[in-house]
Amino acid sequence: MDKSKHDTVVVLDFGAINSQAAAKRIRKLNIYCEVLPYTANEDRIMALNPKALVLQRGARCGEATLGREPAADLTKLGIPTIDMGTADYTDEALDDFLIRTCGVRQDWTIEAFINEAIDAIRAQVGDGRALLAMSGGVDSSVCAVLAHRALGDRLTCVFVDHGLMRKGEPEEVASVFQGKFGMALRSLDASDRFLGKLAGVTDPERKRKIIGEEFIRVFEEEAHAAGDPDYLIQGTIYPDIIESGWDGGKKVKAHHNVGGLPEKINFKGLVEPLKYLFKDEVRQVALALGIPTSIALRQPFPGPGLGVRCIGELTREKLDILREADAIFRAEIVSAGFGGKEASQYFAVLTANRSVGVANDARTYAYTVALRAVNTNDFMTAKFVKLPMDLLERVSIAITEKVPQVNRVVYDITSKPPATIEWE
Ligand code: XMP
Repeated sequence: MDKSKHDTVVVLDFGAINSQAAAKRIRKLNIYCEVLPYTANEDRIMALNPKALVLQRGARCGEATLGREPAADLTKLGIPTIDMGTADYTDEALDDFLIRTCGVRQDWTIEAFINEAIDAIRAQVGDGRALLAMSGGVDSSVCAVLAHRALGDRLTCVFVDHGLMRKGEPEEVASVFQGKFGMALRSLDASDRFLGKLAGVTDPERKRKIIGEEFIRVFEEEAHAAGDPDYLIQGTIYPDIIESGWDGGKKVKAHHNVGGLPEKINFKGLVEPLKYLFKDEVRQVALALGIPTSIALRQPFPGPGLGVRCIGELTREKLDILREADAIFRAEIVSAGFGGKEASQYFAVLTANRSVGVANDARTYAYTVALRAVNTNDFMTAKFVKLPMDLLERVSIAITEKVPQVNRVVYDITSKPPATIEWE
């Protein structure tokens, strides 16, 4: 993306919980906007050549911040400033200030972003080659399509199927990116390898570690097989950058993608085409690029996949049971229109519990599946979704009918905190 082509507005974040919301609102006006911490010095602010400053005060995690003063003396910067914390403002007042008072140009559009992102990838990679770990999620998918447009055959995409994907996912990734987009996607069924390493392991953190390490190993081998490309393309998005800035460089979320940086591969550079986009914007870019809605609007899926949703030891049989139950639940949520706005994340968990049931006049002893649906903005806190009982009943009947290894279905009615979203 070429920032120099657009007028920029800077939101100075005084720890306000709504700073990202203000930035998103400004971007919806087709105005390019960045969030800087209130501690940003004059040079850092002026480097963006802002046409306006928006001071966003408030409370973050219960901490009062109204008394905080910025490091830079803002008045001497000579930039028109609106103080959202003290001014009697509304969203409309903010729009009016930016557009009419400051005359900020409204030229930052999804189409402009796409064209500039493609140019930027081309400029950075030059005549080199790049590698990308495709996870099937929206961020890596958008990166792949942009990089493919920029680099063509000089891009290698690797999709590692660790055997912990949801039902139909590996097939969909292949059909969309090889079929529709014509990419040379290297799709690998590495499930034997992962499940072999995971045999007998029950501790959730050990499972995560094994999956993460094995992923890097497979990815390194693939990088090597592809002739060790110079650049790694990664789907880092803007909240990751803002949050790490706020926490003194530490990641707010400790766990992230299994496809974390393979440290042993020496890349000449890292390409992060989405690092100034919010998730919603990534989804809009995805739709504009022709990525199907099933991927563009897909709920987040953890790197270790079903590995942290199948309690206890991971076996192919248990994972298959979970895949079926999960697919039934997800389909029902989507067809009832709960996916997205109402349920940010929804999935099935195969518990380690087995209990007595009855089928065809005979006793059964089978698994309990737990269903989970939560609503959240930031995934740091979440509320369980009050799904209609008739929907839950339909899902329960369908799962126990179609998945004979399950004879009991429960719904998780715990929010975060005290629970986490995932069970492991
Ligand atoms: P929790 O369970 O901590 O999850 O409430 C918060 C969000 O993070 C996702 N999650 C992960 N994502 N690797 C990931 O890439 C992981 O190990 C992992 N664990 C949890 C979870 O799905 C939710 O969106």
